[in-house]
Amino acid sequence: MRTQVVIIGGGPSGLLLSQLLHRKGIDTVVLERKTRDYVLGRIRAGILEVGFVDLMREAGVGARLDRESHIHDGTVIAYEDQEFRIDFKEMTGSHVVVYGQTEVTRDLYDARAAMDGKVVFNAEGVTIHEADGDAPYVTYEKDGSTHRIDCEFIAGCDGFHGVSRQTIPLDVRREYEKLYPFGWLGVLSETPPVHDELIYSGSERGFALCSMRNENLSRYYVQCSLSDTPEDWSDDAFWTELKRRIPGKYAEALVTGASIEKSIAPLRSFVTEPMRWGRLFLCGDAAHIVPPTGAKGLNTAASDVHYLYNGLVQHYHDGDSHGIDTYSEKALARIWKAERFSWTTTNLLHRFPDQSEFDLKMQLADVNFLRDNVNAQKVFAENYIGLPY
Ligand code: FAD
Ligand code: DHB
Repeated sequence: MRTQVVIIGGGPSGLLLSQLLHRKGIDTVVLERKTRDYVLGRIRAGILEVGFVDLMREAGVGARLDRESHIHDGTVIAYEDQEFRIDFKEMTGSHVVVYGQTEVTRDLYDARAAMDGKVVFNAEGVTIHEADGDAPYVTYEKDGSTHRIDCEFIAGCDGFHGVSRQTIPLDVRREYEKLYPFGWLGVLSETPPVHDELIYSGSERGFALCSMRNENLSRYYVQCSLSDTPEDWSDDAFWTELKRRIPGKYAEALVTGASIEKSIAPLRSFVTEPMRWGRLFLCGDAAHIVPPTGAKGLNTAASDVHYLYNGLVQHYHDGDSHGIDTYSEKALARIWKAERFSWTTTNLLHRFPDQSEFDLKMQLADVNFLRDNVNAQKVFAENYIGLPY
């Protein structure tokens, strides 16, 4: 088989890139290790920046998103017994959009199928060959035989545990990592959200987040120990803990119910440089991870797709390689800023095991500064709604 761009990974970045390129007449094949249902079963992000929404529209998959998503003009920040609101609209003139990653992925799979896009599921043992030469190719196993796809470029959209990043030799690749000493336990429940905006809450017992997908679907998180498993947490234990970490008025209003999904994610900051090696480009979680506080994971994947898509179109349509030559530099410049915001917001609202009384006073001073200072709120809002591409 032959194609122009092999895309490894059928998560949101791989699918969005494939869909965008297809509409510009650039041929792709997407190789996904799992099944479609498996990918759609993963409950992850829920907040989209406007830049992401615009890309979905450009990819021709904005209709359901425009119909069913919800605009959020602000968010609540709580700390111990106090709370305040950051008004995105007033601070930036813009907003974010609530629409689940599952729905984004479903829309993209449907669009790919409608356009006869080539997506290979259950592709095992994907291996990248000669990415630093002029004739790269990718092999994979499926149904007991080995397949080969010759191509011009490879997009590594295969997430943190994928093969693409590992293909870049260690003497070229530089990795930066910070592990946090806790995770997030997330619960999805068919209950009305406790409030019409998100609540990011720091408390003596640790961080909690009240989020949502729609009028009758809520997503809640609590900071938990890295050694916890979802089985350690009954629904009752979860709701009790959540109520203790949010201001009283929300705890009283919280509608609880059976969880329909429960999972734990460890928190990590991670960046690999460069994001290009020869004809291989890394995109999304394959190249970087942020702790989820601030909702930047999926949104940084989208900005990578934006830069790579535009670079490839410039290359194929105008014969100009400037966009792909500067891809790594441009993507990383934006990513490091999102890393900074996610790290700052994590530090602002979580309890760390080794925090001293002084550290806690500094945390409180940071929260109070944000509460009282309009410039600090503007900085928060600009980062939250998404820095320009
Ligand atoms: P992925 O979504 O990871 O997609 C990569 C795809 O590649 C997967 O489908 C995988 O099966 C496939 N793949 C992997 N290896 C191979 C291989 N060798 N060959 C072929 N295919 C392969 N972000 C937020 O903003 N908010 C959140 O609440 C949030 N929660 C998260 C919870 C968890 C448990 C995780 C892991 C991430 C979370 N994120 C969250 C981050 C966000 O979901 C990711 O940033 C986003 O999924 C990145 O998209 P991606 O397409 O780059 O990678
Ligand atoms: C969600 C996750 C986040 O990490 C975040 O900052 C906001 C919302 C969510 O899953 O809804």
